Amino acid sequence: MKTVRSMVLVSSDPESQKRGSTEIYAAFEQLLSQYGLSEEVQLTYATDIGNSTAVPLVMIYPEAVIYGPLLVSEVPHIVEEHLYKGRIVDEKLAPRYALSGRIAWLQARKGTLPAENRVVLKNVGLIDPESIDDYIAQDGYQALGLALTQTPEEVIKTISDSGLQGRGGAGFPTGLKWSFVRKAAGAKKYVICNADESEPGTFKDRVLLEGDPHRTIESMLIAAYAVGADEGYIYIRGEYQLALQRLEAAIKQAEEYGFLGKNIFGSGLNFHLHVHAGAGAYVCGEETALIESLEGKRGEPRSRPPYPTNEGLWGKPTLINNVETLANIPPIIIHGAEWYRKMGTPSSPGTKVYTILGNVNDKGLIEVPMGITLREIITIYAKGMKDGNFKMAQTGGSGGSIIPSSLQDTPMDFESFKKAGVALGSGALLICNENVCIVDLAKVLINFFRVESCGKCTPCRIGTKRALDILTNISNGQGKMEDLDELENLSHDLIALSNCGLGQTAGTPLKEMLNYFRAEVEAHIKLGICPSGTCQMYN
Ligand SMILES: Cc1cc2nc3c(=O)[nH]c(=O)nc-3n(C[C@H](O)[C@H](O)[C@H](O)COP(=O)(O)O)c2cc1C
Ligand code: SF4
Repeated sequence: MKTVRSMVLVSSDPESQKRGSTEIYAAFEQLLSQYGLSEEVQLTYATDIGNSTAVPLVMIYPEAVIYGPLLVSEVPHIVEEHLYKGRIVDEKLAPRYALSGRIAWLQARKGTLPAENRVVLKNVGLIDPESIDDYIAQDGYQALGLALTQTPEEVIKTISDSGLQGRGGAGFPTGLKWSFVRKAAGAKKYVICNADESEPGTFKDRVLLEGDPHRTIESMLIAAYAVGADEGYIYIRGEYQLALQRLEAAIKQAEEYGFLGKNIFGSGLNFHLHVHAGAGAYVCGEETALIESLEGKRGEPRSRPPYPTNEGLWGKPTLINNVETLANIPPIIIHGAEWYRKMGTPSSPGTKVYTILGNVNDKGLIEVPMGITLREIITIYAKGMKDGNFKMAQTGGSGGSIIPSSLQDTPMDFESFKKAGVALGSGALLICNENVCIVDLAKVLINFFRVESCGKCTPCRIGTKRALDILTNISNGQGKMEDLDELENLSHDLIALSNCGLGQTAGTPLKEMLNYFRAEVEAHIKLGICPSGTCQMYN
């Protein structure tokens, strides 16, 4: 299978179809095959391309150009000139007026490819997850062998140079975290894989663990060697029974093959690995609550500092990484930091696994380069919106952000999202159409935080309850304009004063609701109507 070098997207809205887009697609398909380009040029339909008077449109990446209106008879010229010879066909470019509002987006997309690129999911669905031999046949445990020929510092440098950032939600630089644990004083250190994955709508780690359990073990071994740990834990969500069984079986196999245990490969590395199933508390995904839980205590987040990198499990330096973060390690060690940096964006290299759900035609799991836009995900992979236009998306389960329509073309990478004032989160994309009410969505989110709050600190314990009461009043038609000030204060206090990320992120849906959808909330209060027709209004 060749690597995809170009993508061709053919518009497929009703007007495009009326004007021949199906025939255009078929012509591309036939010509790509004729030129022997079918594997390296990915052909797909695109929906929701925005208003245009120049349909049918054809978008081509990575040049990020749009041709249109296109006739079937013009397809051979485009294939030969653009896709075969690499020359843009200027005379067929869609006129600027037809692309109003999309020029800046196109410029930002130049040089990037929104193609699926399975790096961490490479083996999933292809190998027998219960066979260590299958994993080894796919170069499994080769990265470990390679890492053991280097010094721990060299391994950490490669991870730092790759620019890998944590995929558990916060995007902390992985190499930097490893170096903190490496430098921390003490002979006993731990590595923990955070597989708690309790964010609503997120199931990427489950798929990774069920489909390729040895990858997590190999990555943890490399991490252990790099930071100087001899013991590790995989803290897995209790409901993930299949993943748990496969991990336990994989650990047994790895022990039998000598990959786990004492003096691995005669290198002097000792590493013992345990699996611990959580008991259903969302807060136990927060790293310090997870540590408390592993120690057999109530799962409450600790105050920080000290950070786990210095004082973690049983007071010892501890490295905690998410399943997806760790799954990036073996390919980086094998192919190098430079190879990794070729994917994604300069500030957020690599790929990201997303779970797509909500009001779209196609739901599921994808792995795409960092920097892809929400519009591209909806257009290419979700096959367009269902039962209405795009209104907003919620990223990263309840810990993410609400992304309004105006940010649909913002590159989805840690830096661009931060600049835009939103968060990438852990990888769920709940996509909502106009029939979803912002007050209702905020209510669902805040209720989740209220239920899952561990109750240790006041802003979170009381603030989430108070916010839910106010939102419920608003959606019942009993809201007052002063409520908006109170929600703003609550949001501020949750973000600024909560002890851990749960309370802090509980403040974000309130803030974003008021930032992006204030008029809709005000309509509930002032006019007594729910513009989406969702809430029960009594006046
Ligand atoms: C309430 C809450 C729940 C969390 N749940 C998870 C989780 O299920 N999995 C995860 O990897 N990180 C979770 N995190 C983030 C972890 O605290 C930690 O940042 C992460 O495991 C670090 O790994 P990374 O650097 O590889 O991203 C959660 C954080 C908070 C505040
Ligand atoms: S913010 Fe919420 S979940 Fe976090 S420690 Fe405080 S009460 Fe517990």
